[in-house]
Amino acid sequence: MTDTTPADRDIHSYARPWEAHVTHVALDLTADFAAKTLAGSAVLDIERVAGAREVVLDTKGLTIERVTGKDGAPLTFVLGAADPILGQPLTVELPAAGPITVAYRTSPDASALQWLAPSQTAGKTHPYLYSQGQAILTRTWIPTQDSPGIRQTYDARITVPRALRAVMSAEQLTPDGEDGPGGRAFRFRMTHAIPPYLIAIAVGDLAFRPLGPRTGVYAEPAVVATAAAEFADLESMVTAAEALLGPYLWGRYDVLVLPPSFPFGGMENPMVTFATPTVLAGDKSLVSLLAHELAHSWSGNLVTNATWSDFWLNEGVTTYVERRIMETVYGKPRADVFRVLGWRDLATDIDRLGGMQSKDTVLHVDLKGRDPDDGSTQVPYEKGAALLSLIEQTVGREKFDAYLKGYFQRYAFKPITTAQFLTDIRAHLLTDKAVDAKIRLEDWIYKPAIPDNAVEPKAPQLTEAGEQATAFARGVGTSSLRTRDWSTQEWQYFIQELPPTLPVDRMAALDKAFGLSERRNSEVLYEWLHLAIRRHYQPAMPALERFLMSQGRRKFVRPLFEDLMKTDWGKADAKRIYAAARPSYHAVTVNTLDGIVK
Ligand code: BES
Ligand code: ZN
Repeated sequence: MTDTTPADRDIHSYARPWEAHVTHVALDLTADFAAKTLAGSAVLDIERVAGAREVVLDTKGLTIERVTGKDGAPLTFVLGAADPILGQPLTVELPAAGPITVAYRTSPDASALQWLAPSQTAGKTHPYLYSQGQAILTRTWIPTQDSPGIRQTYDARITVPRALRAVMSAEQLTPDGEDGPGGRAFRFRMTHAIPPYLIAIAVGDLAFRPLGPRTGVYAEPAVVATAAAEFADLESMVTAAEALLGPYLWGRYDVLVLPPSFPFGGMENPMVTFATPTVLAGDKSLVSLLAHELAHSWSGNLVTNATWSDFWLNEGVTTYVERRIMETVYGKPRADVFRVLGWRDLATDIDRLGGMQSKDTVLHVDLKGRDPDDGSTQVPYEKGAALLSLIEQTVGREKFDAYLKGYFQRYAFKPITTAQFLTDIRAHLLTDKAVDAKIRLEDWIYKPAIPDNAVEPKAPQLTEAGEQATAFARGVGTSSLRTRDWSTQEWQYFIQELPPTLPVDRMAALDKAFGLSERRNSEVLYEWLHLAIRRHYQPAMPALERFLMSQGRRKFVRPLFEDLMKTDWGKADAKRIYAAARPSYHAVTVNTLDGIVK
């Protein structure tokens, strides 16, 4: 069989970078909250091979007003046919030299952007805008080559209503903004070349609190103190990550806490991670999310998956490193708890995907004709992390850590394919053929299922919660359960370990004793609601509705709507709640849920 697409060819971009590729993007955009548009221009620097006549950009839903060369002379351009996943190629005639300027406007329903009404924010008085670029949504707000292998530096000037402030995944050049005609302008500069999915923006009533010399938190004024307390360990996480992976090369590391519709737990936008407010548990118990997003500063942002089929190199390495950071900052017993919960999430997701033989259990996933979003399952995260743990345990931690540091140095600011990773690890770590053979890299990476040499993680800290779940299932009363001082994760594990057949009166007993339907901790509440739907435990339904209406994190809302849709009694409720919640969810969540709640 001949493969006509080389492994580093990105099938999710129209760009032909081997002819001409974008090296820098300069944005000058105005945010219009009434029209829900970003409008202005993008000046693109382009490197081309001799004889290249045109450059192909990715766009989706953009209105292109004109394209000009450096002297303002108009350049011929063509917007090609629209593909529902990829959008439209924008082919521009290349000038003899110099950049091209695209004057354009976004569509009010650009999937990367969410325009929030004041009522959808914590402060309730100002609107809010934020972007989510990964995987292929940047093309809905910036006309550029939207492929993770085409790294670009950027700068931006963003004009916003006077009461608001803009934050971007870049160095802030004007923290307080500059007054201008049409509003307040903020300027930014990212001098490291990054994949375009990492260009990000947020505009709102934002306050800032420093946490350490190079760390801090942005959030709405009503949330910023809570966020600062929750993230107090951020600076020590950065220090721990550096010891493990090498210097942090991005300057500052800040976290922006978004409004509750943010569709992800976190997004590793360089210099400023975007995070869901559902991590604000009040007891720092969900901060492993920050360890994860911070780890992406190396795996993902420094060394980037070349295509979305190589996504496991971003998320698998990151998930492995996340737990190593947790181990340094909070100790091995706590890190092992996360390893075990991750391993269980993997098993659950593999069931959902149709079992071990599903093609979506392959690490190097086949995305032909599909949205790369279809590849965001637990497989790249947890099967990827399990592979790295296996390698670590096979060669020993010391050698493995030295390899990791070297890997980040060799590929710093570069894309990497799965094939290149294999070559690299064989050249620098698995030089002993017998050791290499033990790991069975090809089985792990190119075949479905979890190979039987995987090392299942163990966590003694979870033993008690498991035993108590078994005891309760056997009929032990709530007053005899030992649950004192349980962490968030012990509660999660306890609920997961309860039998799926638990009678409704036993659910009621648990709820009465431990107030589970009233929990504020999003992860514990989620586990409880998940079980409550499967048990048709009616008294939790108001809490379920509140939870679905008050946040739009896809990891929580997707399974809960799926659970409801699987029941006879819950379908109508699912449709009713979804109809009410849908306008407040981000497009990423809506895209997923539209396919589930029909
Ligand atoms: N980069 C991902 C989020 C993402 C993946 C966005 C694919 C779009 C497409 C981010 O680092 C992530 O993995 N977030 C997780 C949290 C993490 C603790 C596992 C999430 O949002 O659930
Ligand atoms: Zn991630």
